[in-house]
Amino acid sequence: METTLITAFMKQFGESPTVVVRAPGRVNLIGEHTDYNDGFVLPMAIDRAVWLALRPRTDTYVVVYSLEFATSGRFDLNSLERGKMGWLEYIKGVAFALQEANYPLSGWEGVMSGDVPVGAGLSSSAAVEMAVARAFQAVSGWPWDAAAMALVGQKAENSWVGVNTGIMDQMISAAGQAGTAMLLDCRSLAAEFVPLPPGTAVIVLDTATRRGLVDSAYNERRAQCAAAAAFFQVPALRDVTLAQFQAQADKLDELTRQRARHVITENERTVAAAAAMRAGNAVQLGQLMNASHQSLRHDFAVSSEALDTIVACAREHEACLGARMTGAGFGGCAVALVESAAATSFITHVTHRYQAQTGLTPNLYLCSPSRGAEIWGV
Ligand code: GLA
Repeated sequence: METTLITAFMKQFGESPTVVVRAPGRVNLIGEHTDYNDGFVLPMAIDRAVWLALRPRTDTYVVVYSLEFATSGRFDLNSLERGKMGWLEYIKGVAFALQEANYPLSGWEGVMSGDVPVGAGLSSSAAVEMAVARAFQAVSGWPWDAAAMALVGQKAENSWVGVNTGIMDQMISAAGQAGTAMLLDCRSLAAEFVPLPPGTAVIVLDTATRRGLVDSAYNERRAQCAAAAAFFQVPALRDVTLAQFQAQADKLDELTRQRARHVITENERTVAAAAAMRAGNAVQLGQLMNASHQSLRHDFAVSSEALDTIVACAREHEACLGARMTGAGFGGCAVALVESAAATSFITHVTHRYQAQTGLTPNLYLCSPSRGAEIWGV
């Protein structure tokens, strides 16, 4: 990746870049739709990332060539305006959010590339945001503060791009640590890093389906959770225990009850999953992942036929400890925890079975937990 990027940079700009940065995508092991309820999540950064090779400019322009889109875009840091070029808006959004947070910004020019599949639920947009934050940090000279940069990325997404996401994706892309998943308290942003149980591997199962309307369904779920929190008179569903929920559940309408039940039980499962990981208990972690899928499917209603099918195919294999949909849902990816010795046979099995049942060719990736956004080299 680095060599391709440097060659492309030299072709675009005539000289070598002075900095190369990368920021990873992520897969969430458990804790889904809990981040915007101030709850817990347990994602890991994956070894697929967005890369940027760049050098500073002496003016206030940012000029970026995207290898995937084979186009370039530019904007002036002194007059940010919304435009139509999708990927460039994420870059502008980060510049906007950094300026809002009073970071002084210098111009730069760069070539961007990546291998995080777009729209698959592996947070390619958070990876772009954190790579761009790293690029600005590298040329502008202030120190890297992972949590502050994650909040900047979230602001870019919420206020510039217009998608109302939580903090999980940006936090793990900014702060991931090799070999571990991150138990994140989405209220305090306190993070604890926990290694995978010995002998296990994480496999991402891309259903090869993408669904539109995800934003509106996502915002609808957010609103339903906020309504449930209002009913309990607390700032967020994170503040409702299972016992408190059960005592009052019959006063909620059916839909709100289901949505709240997912979030409250998912928070408990996520904390339990981190404890299972600390204890090296792979079986328990897998069971919690299975239970998470049921809850997302029935109570939160964000799964899809393709996701349910690939999860079922995964569970057929004897080396599968647990499997569930991951990310916002409605399409995209599932995640499985498997015995690492049988990873290859698992991948072959799921690929054939899913293909036979759906006619679609899935993409399965064995993922190792990687580092968060970093300056890779010069
Ligand atoms: C998307 C959002 C995250 C989170 C997940 C669901 O990935 O970007 O903030 O809400 O959906 O867990």
